[in-house]
Amino acid sequence: MKATAIAPANIAFIKYWGKKDEVLRLPENGSVSMCLSNLLTTTTVEFSLEYKENSVDIGGDKGNERPAYVPITSGLRRGKKEGTTRIIAHIDRIRKIAGISLKAKVVTKNNFPTGTGLSSSASGFAALTLAGAKAAGLNLTEKNLSILARQGSGSACRSIPDGFVEWLDGNTSETSYGISLFPPEHWEICDVVAVVSREKKETPTTEGMKGARSSLFLPTRLRNIKDKINRIKDLIKDKRFKDFGEMVEAEALELHAIMLTSQPSLIYLMPNSILLMKLVKKWRSEGLECYFTVNTGQDIHIIVEKKNVSELLERLKTIEEVRNIIINESARGARIAEEHLF
Ligand code: DP6
Repeated sequence: MKATAIAPANIAFIKYWGKKDEVLRLPENGSVSMCLSNLLTTTTVEFSLEYKENSVDIGGDKGNERPAYVPITSGLRRGKKEGTTRIIAHIDRIRKIAGISLKAKVVTKNNFPTGTGLSSSASGFAALTLAGAKAAGLNLTEKNLSILARQGSGSACRSIPDGFVEWLDGNTSETSYGISLFPPEHWEICDVVAVVSREKKETPTTEGMKGARSSLFLPTRLRNIKDKINRIKDLIKDKRFKDFGEMVEAEALELHAIMLTSQPSLIYLMPNSILLMKLVKKWRSEGLECYFTVNTGQDIHIIVEKKNVSELLERLKTIEEVRNIIINESARGARIAEEHLF
């Protein structure tokens, strides 16, 4: 009853922000994303009679790796405890479906360095879902894995299917899940992540998005979102990079407009995030076709066609505020791995 899974983080082109059901994690709106080849979580889960307690090794203690899904709070200890609670709650969901009561051991690690501000609950809960389900003897469909992952962290449902993914906007748990729109090889675009801060975000996303409805602009956003999703799907299908990039950038700014105008207001962008956003626009005016998107500010995702990655890297390397660069292509979703972490 032991299994290991690897799952990618994903970058949303149309964002998830706000929930219509907090417990089931049903989002206010659908979203569209791409799985990322180089931001990966590996997780091993074992259920055994030998375990008298549940145990979760989320790294940190032993030094190197910080798990993807530890909520970032004011201190590592508090964050780790909350992360562990969230992981055990997810293991409980899996045990309930499988009808087992065995205790579990969970060990997880990321392939990206600690302390960069990069943290993705998406890769973490997607890997935990697949490894946990397999270890519990469940043979779930992709759809049911995505539904289960969503309940751990919303964006994790988009890290189960491959490549370019839509999170369908359903009003019930059964109708709210990720589907693959196109396989990874459909389009050679890259997400070059420029890490600009080691600061932890002050407000975890789960907390932050509770205020989405307090923004006067949310109803306007929701009125237009279905059209936006249809349009971005067409742009991905037809590989129209310029129109796609413009839409991705506008959507990121719209997300931050909602954050800034919520009560209490959320100011996630930092001086260096804005610096990078402005540089991307400048480089574009100089002929390098690239567009930014940004979630909670510590890192800027620069979307670029593969043929232009090296030119982008040349420029990024000259910017001293950029602490780390991670190049991602579109990737497969969660998959089983043969090598266990323990
Ligand atoms: C800004 O999936 O982390 O990255 O469901 O509360 O765990 P929870 O939220 P989470 O939110 C991600 C929000 C975002 C936008 C996105 O990825 O779509």
